[in-house]
Amino acid sequence: MNIHGSIALVTGANRGLGAAFARVLLANGAAKVYAAARDPSSVKQAGVVPVQLDVTKPDQVAALARDLRDVTLVVNNAGVFEPGPLLAPQSADALMRQMEVNALGPLRVVQAFAPVLAANGGSAVINMLSVLSWLTLANVSGTYSASKAAAWALSNGLRQELKAQGTELLSVHAGFIDTDMASGVQMPKTSPDDVARIALEALQAGQSEVLVDDISRQVRQGFSASPAIYLGTGA
Ligand SMILES: NC(=O)c1ccc[n+]([C@@H]2O[C@H](COP(=O)([O-])OP(=O)(O)OC[C@H]3O[C@@H](n4cnc5c(N)ncnc54)[C@H](OP(=O)(O)O)[C@@H]3O)[C@@H](O)[C@H]2O)c1
Repeated sequence: MNIHGSIALVTGANRGLGAAFARVLLANGAAKVYAAARDPSSVKQAGVVPVQLDVTKPDQVAALARDLRDVTLVVNNAGVFEPGPLLAPQSADALMRQMEVNALGPLRVVQAFAPVLAANGGSAVINMLSVLSWLTLANVSGTYSASKAAAWALSNGLRQELKAQGTELLSVHAGFIDTDMASGVQMPKTSPDDVARIALEALQAGQSEVLVDDISRQVRQGFSASPAIYLGTGA
């Protein structure tokens, strides 16, 4: 898909990676960027069109898809990370909250916008996943990893279903990105603008998946190690 002239909807576009996606889309010639946020007044970037969207609210998702009939690219970026051990009593509640945003959110958005994308000639979806879709850091990412693993499986299923209407779906896997979400992490982090740029280049090249950094590439390779990397001791 060509970014130049595209009309994009970016979820969670008020800060972090979502704001970077909006910036890089405009810099690469996108004709319009709808910057979706739970609170649209928190979108401070010039040149975008702020719109309200909480991805956990099906009514808001449906209303937005009714209003924005010109979208040709959906970037499912919004996400939450609640660290903690799986054995803690609150982990089931934390898992449900993260599933709502990280897995059901993108599913709802794709379901609602699929007819819009089809009407606009096929178009594309980007789903922001993680190296933690494949790996669980012990005592830290159990519930987040479960939600991102679900988002990965949903992305793989949706890609196949969307193919019939000519819509591509790109999965983006990253290690640590320099945003609020990873502010407590003392490891090398990729800048959000670089992640957005690499993702959009991969989309333009027609890829179905992109691993943006060394961490995600190493973890992918570790699938075929013995023992496989996801069986390891974690953090
Ligand atoms: N940072 C990393 O190291 C890293 C690594 C791999 C993948 N990722 C993924 O990259 C994506 C962007 O994360 P980030 O690093 O930019 O995180 P971030 O700085 O914490 O920003 C998260 C964004 O998601 C929005 N959001 C949260 N819940 C939402 C909801 N219910 N509806 C709509 N928007 C909601 C937030 O809006 P509010 O301002 O309203 O809270 C914010 O705009 C996420 O999917 C994340 O899982 C991040």
